[in-house]
Amino acid sequence: MSDPIIEKTVDFVRQQLAGAEGGHDWSHIERVWKMAGFIREQEGQGDRMTIDLAALLHDIADPKFNDGDEEKGAALAFDFLTGNGLDLDRAGHIRSIIRYVSYRGGLPQDHIQSIEFQIVQDADRLDAMGAIGIARAFNYGGHKNRPIYDPGVPVREYADPSAYHASAAPTINHFHEKLLRLKALMNTETGKKIARERHAFMLQFLEQFHREADFFRRENSG
Ligand code: ADP
Ligand code: NI
Repeated sequence: MSDPIIEKTVDFVRQQLAGAEGGHDWSHIERVWKMAGFIREQEGQGDRMTIDLAALLHDIADPKFNDGDEEKGAALAFDFLTGNGLDLDRAGHIRSIIRYVSYRGGLPQDHIQSIEFQIVQDADRLDAMGAIGIARAFNYGGHKNRPIYDPGVPVREYADPSAYHASAAPTINHFHEKLLRLKALMNTETGKKIARERHAFMLQFLEQFHREADFFRRENSG
């Protein structure tokens, strides 16, 4: 049995995300929603309604696909929730979770440190790791028509979020620039535990990838 506002939100989100890039589609939302619920249960804290709604609505207008507009998704979610009778306290809290949940929005993250925020952020970050994270990264790179791998393009530090987003670096670089850093950024004990396994799998993938990429240079040269 689920609350009517949850059902309405599911319908709204599915509609908003029709045609979304494969890494940011309904299946990503569904995994983040379920994972956030699981982390909440394991941690034994957090307001369920806030977590469910924030997880469901966190990517409805991703800035990457909305000319860099960082506020749009959060504002849209707030209007949707208050329009459907959610109390202003919760709706406002959910708006700031959505506004700051993402890695790029999250550089100085003292804006909001609620347990609900931490749980939704862990769930979203976990979906960028492991086998699913690898699939999503290459899907995103393909969507942007980026090279898979180019040893001539070094891994780099980005000074600010817009430089990071303007980068057309090969997708393999994204592992070093972002995905391998996520493990250390987990908020909850449950998140940390799941992140360890997914991190180890990404390392294993990269090791094999480089072994194959270097095949003729190392084992079979000369
Ligand atoms: P969020 O989950 O907050 O929307 P992002 O939008 O940064 O986080 O990332 C969403 C997905 O897109 C992740 O799986 C991430 O790895 C992938 N992605 C984002 N930027 C890149 C990139 N430059 N290269 C490859 N994948 C990317
Ligand atoms: Ni997301």
